[in-house]
Amino acid sequence: MTGTKPSSRVQVRQNRDFMADPLSLLARRLSPAFAAVAGGEVDPVVRPSEHADAQVNGALALAKKLGKQPREVVAQVLDIAGDMSDMCTDLQVAGPGFVNVVFAEKFLAEQVHVAMASEALGVAAAPVKRKYVVDYSAPNVAKEMHVGHLRSTIIGDALVRMLTFVGHIVVRENHIGDWGTPFGMLIEHLVDLGEADAAHELGVGDLDGFYKEARRKFEADDVFKERARARVVALQGGDPDTLRLWKTLVNESTKYFNHVYGLLDVLLTDDDLAGESKYNTLLPQVVDRLAKLGMLVESDGAEVVFPAGFTNREGDPLPLIIRKGDGGYNYATTDLACVIDRVENIGAEASLYVVGAPQAQHLQMIESVSRTAGWLSDDADMVHVAFGSVLGADRKMLKSRSGDAVKLASLLEEAVDRANRAITEKNPEMADDQRAQVAKMIGIGAVKYSDLSSDRVKDYVFDWDRMLSFEGNTAPYLQYAHARICSIFRRAGVERESVRHVVPTLDAPQERSLALRLLQFDAAVWDAIDKYSPHRLCTYLYDLASDFTSFYEHCPVLRAESDSMRNSRLFLCDSTARVMNAGLAVLGIRSPEMM
Ligand code: ARG
Repeated sequence: MTGTKPSSRVQVRQNRDFMADPLSLLARRLSPAFAAVAGGEVDPVVRPSEHADAQVNGALALAKKLGKQPREVVAQVLDIAGDMSDMCTDLQVAGPGFVNVVFAEKFLAEQVHVAMASEALGVAAAPVKRKYVVDYSAPNVAKEMHVGHLRSTIIGDALVRMLTFVGHIVVRENHIGDWGTPFGMLIEHLVDLGEADAAHELGVGDLDGFYKEARRKFEADDVFKERARARVVALQGGDPDTLRLWKTLVNESTKYFNHVYGLLDVLLTDDDLAGESKYNTLLPQVVDRLAKLGMLVESDGAEVVFPAGFTNREGDPLPLIIRKGDGGYNYATTDLACVIDRVENIGAEASLYVVGAPQAQHLQMIESVSRTAGWLSDDADMVHVAFGSVLGADRKMLKSRSGDAVKLASLLEEAVDRANRAITEKNPEMADDQRAQVAKMIGIGAVKYSDLSSDRVKDYVFDWDRMLSFEGNTAPYLQYAHARICSIFRRAGVERESVRHVVPTLDAPQERSLALRLLQFDAAVWDAIDKYSPHRLCTYLYDLASDFTSFYEHCPVLRAESDSMRNSRLFLCDSTARVMNAGLAVLGIRSPEMM
């Protein structure tokens, strides 16, 4: 997979009209001076700093290239840059030759004022709008969704929202497993149960029980096995009655999936279904086109492609099986057809596959074949947004007490129950119907946030107590910061909108830090998008909540010394709540106004 191209980010940053992020602005401001000294474009390398607001490190690498002393290069750059006092109060050359920068209060105040006046709260729109297909969730028909599907659904949905937020065109695709040989036995089991009973079993979400019973019969009973085989042939041959039974299985399963999506509060609907069966008619074309390109070879009776550079443990080339000896197609064939469909029919410029890490090699082989075949051009991205496993307290794969796969619907219901109990403890006066609503936002928010807030490629431990805690990097802590601000305005009887015209004063260090943080929402969203890593945005929101907490501890708001100070602080409160609300929203998490 190509992943993100490092250069795209720099371009994105430099093409924007308005930038809230002060670090990017500083880089843009210093760029011409660096270019003049370097005799060509160089990155000023502006980074956050522990000692100041920012650090400019670009002179170090440049000095090496020019064979000069870094401090000499810095002096030249700053000389050419000239008066920067409108932006920074202090530019200190330090260490071997980096510059510590402290931004001017007035600059920060004006920036935050302008940023918060924009609908996107300072987050720059994508300068080039691209069409993204996001492939996510993708459970299998007549099988319980497992926690891997939960992760895919949560991460994929957050990515869809983030990309949409900056203006990209996003097509959601739910590539459900709704085709293949297991449908022979599943349909025969359906016939045995009778359609009504089978529909009931699937409708209440006992997908695993259904699947296991079908498999058990398939293995134990030769007559059943024969029926299942004949049924696969009928299904592939398009026999109308078989197709109708198949459709029943698909419909009952998607009903259950929709129930889970509803609980999870994600964007997926039936319109987003693009299951494996959708590509059936394209499969012969895949074979044809590969054959015409001379890429198809015969190996052990099957038709395969050998993508360059893939070998097995013995060092032999690894085949991607396109058509098996019996004429049947594979998961891989479907995925190749899917690439063709996305590029040629949908017009996708980038496809994100939000799929567990174990499918990395499969997807790499699909990409390799698609590129060689010319179905994916050089500027089309195909990215595997991989993720690790969800572990139980014992650090093994999360299982239910009986050892079976965890039922997602009951897991989510438990989250809401637990949140309900937590709020009852915190706020016993809340009315029942309101508590029920808030419990949903907090319980589901907690599950989503605990998934999104850790680096997606790593495994994480599913821990009820931690995810529902009102302390630490959790959804309830962030939601609480938001609700608290709403309550400040309620207590004061002040309309939130009424303070939005204010240009704040940033005298206290906590006011200044909070303003600086608000301005970094822009960079945080872009950072999360660039790396397809929602946890980067989570970290930002957590820092924002922490900065708000210390601001609120040190700076009286409603009892401020003067009206103008009170308004300035109310502006910072309102801005924090808006950024928190928008940030959580792009992660797919709601912010209650009371909790
Ligand atoms: N249904 C598959 C599974 O449960 C995931 C499909 C992912 N998407 C794809 N285009 N292969 O493992």
